[in-house]
Amino acid sequence: MTLTRKDILLKLARVENLPSPPRLLNNALSLIENPDSSVEEIAKIISQDAAISAKLISISNSPFFRGATEVTELQTACVRLGLNELQNLLLASVLSGTFSVSSEETMNKFWLHSMACGYTTDVIFDMSVSSKNSPFKSMAFSSGLLHDLGSLVLMQQWPEEYNLLIETLIQGDTTIFNLETEKWGVNHSEIGDLLSRRWKLPEVYRFIMRYHHEPWEAPEAYSELVKAVHLADFICSSQGFARVESMPIEFDSTSWDYFGLSEDDVPEILDRVERTGEKSEHFSSLIK
Ligand SMILES: [Fe+2]
Ligand SMILES: [Fe+2]
Repeated sequence: MTLTRKDILLKLARVENLPSPPRLLNNALSLIENPDSSVEEIAKIISQDAAISAKLISISNSPFFRGATEVTELQTACVRLGLNELQNLLLASVLSGTFSVSSEETMNKFWLHSMACGYTTDVIFDMSVSSKNSPFKSMAFSSGLLHDLGSLVLMQQWPEEYNLLIETLIQGDTTIFNLETEKWGVNHSEIGDLLSRRWKLPEVYRFIMRYHHEPWEAPEAYSELVKAVHLADFICSSQGFARVESMPIEFDSTSWDYFGLSEDDVPEILDRVERTGEKSEHFSSLIK
């Protein structure tokens, strides 16, 4: 039986069919939003969760961060990771355990794509002369990381239908967003919007999830960040960080001009992402 828009929305209207928000999620997001937050404050929040604390301590001992001595204590691990990376890893750890999707490969690809989009969005702000000092800069990574969360809801609730969709996608010449809309009358952007309202996330993330495939529809106040995520999603989908090997997303090429960047900047963007991304090798250990 084909899945319809009505089936999907009816099922998701029931609270028990959506995962509950991870306990530390809103704490992690408000730390990111607040430029004055300190490593100590973050450590205090992380210490409420033994599993996340243990993961971060182990990451701080990984080759990329390793210092002269082995870190065994959370506060020291936090200092070694540094404020930015700490926030990123905290958010990623908090989110990655929330959804259970049967295929480990699908999950790994999903998080690799999301992480890469997070880092790429951040690099876009860094490299853009006009957006370098934007107030959205601190939310660049988190926005890229969260943009496709609606897909995880669909994958978790309708695994068979989702796999069939992916098969059609791989063989065809359309994008995931268009195929979902065409087959089901609903897409992961709309489901992301629903999830962010249910989880009571800050409004900015709702608009990221809702409009990352249609940045021209985003409210003016958020359009800079939505455009950056859209551009990052395009770069990642076409440069080896796709979550499905298919056509990259449909792309609004005016996004390049908006940031004063062009296709010629792709090698430098990727180079920077990969340098930061080396740190994210341990990301795969985070999501297991
Ligand atoms: Fe998407
Ligand atoms: Fe994406």
